[in-house]
Amino acid sequence: MKPNQNQLVTGIAILVFSLIVLACNRPVNNPPEERLMSTPPPPDPKTVIERGKYLVNIGLCHDCHSPKVFTDQGPEPDGTRLLSGNPADMLFKNFDPALVNEGLVLMNPHFTAFAGPWGVSYAANLTPDATGLGSWNEENFLRAMREGKYKGLTNSRDLLPPMPWHYYRLMSDEDILAIFAYLKTLKPVRNIVPAPGSFTAG
Ligand code: HEC
Repeated sequence: MKPNQNQLVTGIAILVFSLIVLACNRPVNNPPEERLMSTPPPPDPKTVIERGKYLVNIGLCHDCHSPKVFTDQGPEPDGTRLLSGNPADMLFKNFDPALVNEGLVLMNPHFTAFAGPWGVSYAANLTPDATGLGSWNEENFLRAMREGKYKGLTNSRDLLPPMPWHYYRLMSDEDILAIFAYLKTLKPVRNIVPAPGSFTAG
């Protein structure tokens, strides 16, 4: 028996309606396990550390915070004391403050010590030694990188140039904390960085 026109139209309408209902309901009908799987998994600590390393490399932290070895290709970060800051015994010598008053900015050959209109500054030890970031927590690190506060403490002095925290502050919390996680994996290097302003006459 052939279906009449009315039956055909009703059949097609029911089919279209069922398809629409199916399409709309699909995500809602997913079993809970399936829905959980579609939310991103928590970051794998190893991946976080890898990202931190990547950001430290492209963010030029080594340029100022790692003492250098001098090769035919020029200065390179000293692999035995990465990111340990300006060495304790390496002070500006015979520094004449009149030079910076004349508008010069000076730098040592390791790019870890600087003198400019702000005075003399030495790059900090970022290794997890007690003389570096050993006692820091994530909050301290976020505050140092976001607000430019020495030791990441609320009431401490402002960080001196040329630490470019005004730019680093634009990073997401996630990225700043990935850097911190990576720094915590470095070899701890004992090095008490000279206080800002210090130099030797000899
Ligand atoms: C152009 C040079 C320069 C670069 C690049 C640089 N820093 Fe610094 N940084 C400094 C100097 C100099 C100081 C010390 C400032 C002071 O004593 O006030 C410092 C201080 C810091 C401090 C504060 C340490 C403390 O004891 O309070 C942190 C944290 C820090 N830098 C992290 C970083 C990280 C992470 C990077 C890379 C993403 C980086 N810096 C790149 C020059 C630099």
